Amino acid sequence: MATESTVTKNIESILQENRLFPPADGFINQARLNKGSLDQLRQSAQQDHESFWASLAREELTWQKEFTQTLDSRNAPHFRWFYDGALNVSYNCLDRHLGKLGNKTAIVFEGEQGDTRRLTYAEVQREVCKFANGLKSIGIKNGDRVVIYMPMVPEAVIAMLACARIGAIHSVVFGGFSAESLKDRIEDAGAVCVITADGGHRGGKIVELKAATDKALAHGCATIKNVIVLRRTGHDIKFDRGRDTWWHDLVENQGPDCQPEWVDSEHPLFLLYTSGSTGKPKGIQHSTAGYLLNSVVTMKWVFDIKDNDIFWCTADVGWITGHSYVAYGPLAVGATMLMYEGAPVVPDPGRFWKICQDHKVTIFYTAPTAIRALMKQGDDYPRRYDLTKLRLLGTVGEPINPEAWMWYHTVIGKEKCPIVDTWWQTETGAHMISPIPGAMPTKPGSCTLPLPGIDAAIVDEKGNEITTPNQGGYLVIRKPWPSMLRTIWGDDQRYKDTYWSKFKGKYYLAGDSARRDEDGYFWIMGRIDDVLNVSGHRLGTMEIESALVAHPKVAEAAVVGKPDEIKGEGIFAFVVLRGARPEGGIDETLTKELRAWVSEQIGPIARPDEIRYADNLPKTRSGKIMRRLLRTIATGEAITQDTSTLENEAILQQLQGKA
Ligand code: WTA
Repeated sequence: MATESTVTKNIESILQENRLFPPADGFINQARLNKGSLDQLRQSAQQDHESFWASLAREELTWQKEFTQTLDSRNAPHFRWFYDGALNVSYNCLDRHLGKLGNKTAIVFEGEQGDTRRLTYAEVQREVCKFANGLKSIGIKNGDRVVIYMPMVPEAVIAMLACARIGAIHSVVFGGFSAESLKDRIEDAGAVCVITADGGHRGGKIVELKAATDKALAHGCATIKNVIVLRRTGHDIKFDRGRDTWWHDLVENQGPDCQPEWVDSEHPLFLLYTSGSTGKPKGIQHSTAGYLLNSVVTMKWVFDIKDNDIFWCTADVGWITGHSYVAYGPLAVGATMLMYEGAPVVPDPGRFWKICQDHKVTIFYTAPTAIRALMKQGDDYPRRYDLTKLRLLGTVGEPINPEAWMWYHTVIGKEKCPIVDTWWQTETGAHMISPIPGAMPTKPGSCTLPLPGIDAAIVDEKGNEITTPNQGGYLVIRKPWPSMLRTIWGDDQRYKDTYWSKFKGKYYLAGDSARRDEDGYFWIMGRIDDVLNVSGHRLGTMEIESALVAHPKVAEAAVVGKPDEIKGEGIFAFVVLRGARPEGGIDETLTKELRAWVSEQIGPIARPDEIRYADNLPKTRSGKIMRRLLRTIATGEAITQDTSTLENEAILQQLQGKA
């Protein structure tokens, strides 16, 4: 079980949390689901899990060929959903709305520098078709992998939908990842094309996406034949005429019609790389129909989406949240969604609230880390803006501490907006455990109850369900669900090992520990593996360690998480150098160099907050690094662990920064 002190502290504060917040009457009266209709949904899911999902799939998706088979478990843990059906995701997100919603705004965009754009469904559909035709014109076809490395501009979504239109499998790489990370992902996927931009605006600076792409391609990525470059910043970049094409040149002579490629339900829609406990990120592979179905139903159940909503999910398209709740979910239900390119603090920490006011945002979905960071700036910023249009708030990515929840509830939501704390993962594709806002009370810090059709439970080491309230255990999902990951790209064994081996193929292992309270509400306690959650982003400690030891001066490294008021977890690295340990353990130049190095290797989000040098790392007799000890040391707490097995006790002083 996770024993990290972040987690312990969280649990301590959360254990005392028993406030209950029922939705306001004003919300209940207009909600899609109320208590009664939610109970009915739950009942029908319980009665017949497969028929429940089958009828939703018939109602919510538009099929080119209807399916007759719902779930195929013969080859478990490889499950197939609706597998003899055929459809196209871009058709479902765009074409099917055109009759009624052609002139409705699909995307409202605001750049960091204040530029805005609005695109109707008809316009997005046309752009997607033209770009899809462009992709075809350079030979990209069904099943090819295409890497998207873009800023948060409408073209990122257009590129994703264009891939979906022609059956190409996209792999979006977060624009904050380094050239090195981009290269790894391109190579693992065997991608044939990169879609990028000259740059993007973030934090008042230009993110050099094209330069990073050039760097990635300079030493590897042999499968890449084309690079498509969107002009966003207009600043000078290097251009390789043989390999690079401007986006605007590619689409210039393309027609506005592009017949969708009808693909099987199980056709991979995308890969998305995420960190695990070992060094290499895993390419989570998602399906077409199942994935889309859960995005659609959660837009309705959890976000209570309505025709006149302005829906804003602040996640970058480089994360799963940006896939399901920026690119696919909102468009599949015909909603108006907002996309913002930049940082929340430019030009000042009121930016998010100003955007909410200016664009009349009604549903706002963000990460606890952003809430905490903005909360720290005081109430003045949000008070300057008119937030009365907001009717629903959401959070995702990490546990939200009750204090931040209360601030969100009172200062942003003015006590009238329910908060949906949504637990889910890259692997699950869509929300799994979350409040249904008009149908149940919420508790600060709890993601409440599994959604209809989602069979989540907490089990002990042996896989028996824990029924004692507040006793922690492994969070598992006991029945397959449509948007579950299908495998890990190129490493099916790892798929089986990571998610299914612990409970012998019976349950999906989420990798989180959790408990349920007296009301059955779920409280997420933290990861059970060596994965950190830094500002809501998953980072494997091994990944950061490998980056550190790749530096010529580093012999060994161990990375642990340390509680951080804003980021949730900060990154603490213990390093053994190849040469002598710096005098007194201090070498600011080297520390700076190593932090920059990790930034280069992975991306700025992985940069260690603190680095401490020691002659050795503490290890058990069998040679395992004593991570729990390091975590205690990182938090500065008293050491209670047995350290008698340490060969060189002097290193304790060094690790503690006392020598
Ligand atoms: C954590 C993000 C507590 C959890 C959608 C999970 C959460 C990991 C919550 C997945 C939440 C996500 N409360 N913890 N509401 N949502 N997590 O793949 O540890 O980036 O396993 O997906 O984030 O992170 P991922």
